[in-house]
Amino acid sequence: MNIILFGAPGAGKGTQGERLADHFGMLKLSTGDLLRDAVKKGTPLGLEARRFMDAGELVADSVILGLVGEVMKQQKDGKGVIFDGFPRTVPQAEALTRILDDVGMKLAGVLLLDVADDEIVRRLSGRVSCPSCGSVYNLYSDPPRVAGTCDRCGATLTQRDDDKENTVRRRLAVYREQTEPVVAWYRAHDVPVHTVAGDRGVDEIQTDLRAVLTR
Ligand code: AP5
Repeated sequence: MNIILFGAPGAGKGTQGERLADHFGMLKLSTGDLLRDAVKKGTPLGLEARRFMDAGELVADSVILGLVGEVMKQQKDGKGVIFDGFPRTVPQAEALTRILDDVGMKLAGVLLLDVADDEIVRRLSGRVSCPSCGSVYNLYSDPPRVAGTCDRCGATLTQRDDDKENTVRRRLAVYREQTEPVVAWYRAHDVPVHTVAGDRGVDEIQTDLRAVLTR
């Protein structure tokens, strides 16, 4: 089973994808995480990508497809992939079809997390994460037990550079212009799209997502 977890920045793709991957034993493939890893390592690709990420713009399709293609080569015998933050443009969606064909896989559907823009801005302004173990918190809805410190490994929590309000507004605009059309593209290609209300508690949303996947 391969699925796309779709939604605006901050809709909860990472939070829900992590739980689905644990529950179903699937791989969560987040292009944002792959890019942040390259930025952290200071690779040429990371340095180039950072300029776009900090501005809230999309990184070039060719770069993203190279990253995804590498991961997918290892997935032939896996239990399936949850794509988080990919595809984000129609050319990326077209390329994903080819990548899946090459490894003999199919797409089961798209899960669309629907969240209002004001809630997104609130969530992203409150997001902090652990640079060491990757745990994600929210200062409003899911704060760490000790302010500024990761519950799991004790490292100091940081805010993502692209979670500043102006950049979040730009990311939302880019989502509407370049990424939302991907949903229509999948509908036109008869791929099932399930919309799940993402303005609720994390557990409630997770229950609905699992129900869709086990239908
Ligand atoms: P990426 O990392 O993919 O960012 P994004 O899509 O903008 O999504 P986020 O990670 O911000 O949010 P999320 O939906 O995962 O929410 P989360 O679960 O963390 O991409 C970053 C950048 O990389 C892009 O801008 C672009 O430059 C580049 N990029 C990446 N992929 C690309 C691609 N394919 N093509 C081109 N460029 C690409 O939750 C957010 C916060 O809310 C957290 O604090 C969380 O605790 C909290 N929260 C979650 N759920 C709930 C809930 N139900 N109630 C209350 N709070 C909640």
